[in-house]
Amino acid sequence: MTATVTSTSAQPAPAGITFPDGFVWGAATASYQIEGAAREDGRGPSIWDTFSRTPGKVFAGHTGDIACDHYHRYADDVALMADLGLASYRFSIAWPRVRPDGTGPVNPKGLDFYDRLTDELLGKGIDPVVTLYHWDLPQTLEDRGGWTNRETAEAFADYAAVVFGRLGDRVGTWTTLNEPWCSAYLGYGSGIHAPGRQDPASALIAAHHLNLAHGLAARTLRSAGARSISITLNPCEVSPLDPANPDDVAAARLIDGVANRIFFDPLLKGEYATDVLEHIARVTDPSFIRDGDTAIIHQPLDVLGINYYTPSYVEAVPGHGGALDYPGSDGIAFRKLPAPVTDMGWPIEPAALTRLLTRIHRDYPGTALMITENGAAYPEGVHDLPRIEYIDGHLRACHDALAAGVDLRGYFAWSLMDNFEWAEGYAKRFGMVHVDYTTQQRVLKDSAKWYREVIRRNGLE
Ligand code: FCB
Repeated sequence: MTATVTSTSAQPAPAGITFPDGFVWGAATASYQIEGAAREDGRGPSIWDTFSRTPGKVFAGHTGDIACDHYHRYADDVALMADLGLASYRFSIAWPRVRPDGTGPVNPKGLDFYDRLTDELLGKGIDPVVTLYHWDLPQTLEDRGGWTNRETAEAFADYAAVVFGRLGDRVGTWTTLNEPWCSAYLGYGSGIHAPGRQDPASALIAAHHLNLAHGLAARTLRSAGARSISITLNPCEVSPLDPANPDDVAAARLIDGVANRIFFDPLLKGEYATDVLEHIARVTDPSFIRDGDTAIIHQPLDVLGINYYTPSYVEAVPGHGGALDYPGSDGIAFRKLPAPVTDMGWPIEPAALTRLLTRIHRDYPGTALMITENGAAYPEGVHDLPRIEYIDGHLRACHDALAAGVDLRGYFAWSLMDNFEWAEGYAKRFGMVHVDYTTQQRVLKDSAKWYREVIRRNGLE
């Protein structure tokens, strides 16, 4: 031994990691964000068609009318997925394509599309993971109260049965809802998403009815023979700004209740926590929660989907108005710690994902987890090293969770391709595949090529 290494200029490369055998590698999209063909083959209007046409609601008046034209280009898109080596593809079904007015006649042409898509996937060896509701509620149901109307939950279970009747022989995993937090609190609380209502009571009522919709649909799917049932949540990874300040700790606990435990507890334990019920009662009359509801919501889950992008920090600030998307959060301010951010302005903190997963594992033992969305928006371009770094960091965070004993089954990147990013329209790009919205040409970004290697290796170099 003669040489002593003295150079400190280069950071040591992070060690290679391997994921467990059978770890599922996938990518996700959602119907309104990619399909387009908004008025084709009998599709009815959804709340997002209405909302995107309401001046001032979506960036530059963008709509999902054409989006990525996936409705017509699905075969090419599936070929792209196969080229990337995806084992699984998570997509959502547009309720207004299947039942244009929410409850009435079934539209066979709408089902035909998902039939073709499913067969195309299976033909390429890609496992379809179906989400039944990713926010495109039939407008007719919203006209009758939307998620504040209990009947919407029943209508959802009927619709789930219809879709299962057509695809159940080929689709293994059935996810009822995507991110009910967003449907309830962004849709009816802050109003930044469709249907754009701003009422804290309605937001909490919607949250309960979404829980109920999950339970009713899960029960229906199970009795129809579904093999694997899930729901996807987007838990708020919330910490007190100052962990030594009891008021900040209490603020974080309150946010955890209204954002997380309001979903986790009835789903996984069959009850709402006392503090959450008290919180609801401070905002509104809680009689919309009826006897027996939590037993319905508490259906066996084969896997719980987790979407994660960024953590939250909260501070108790007496007199602060709170956040409309956390009903009843007066006196609480959301703060950002200094950290690099994505194009959404969302701070990047992969370690928070490990915290989130280990916390769920601790508080709800025996729950199999799947990352059903994770990814980042960056400005347009195919050389997207920051996205590679984002996903690399979060995959390492997943691996840390696995090492800590979390039963994590797989990872779906958000998103396969650039798409309609809700209130941000086409201005924010989350795709690993670039979409030119003028020509609809798809081009693999560097992140897609990198992800292909991750999948091939089942790990990181
Ligand atoms: C999630 C949504 C998904 C996408 C990402 C960026 O909340 O489920 O449709 O918009 O955020």
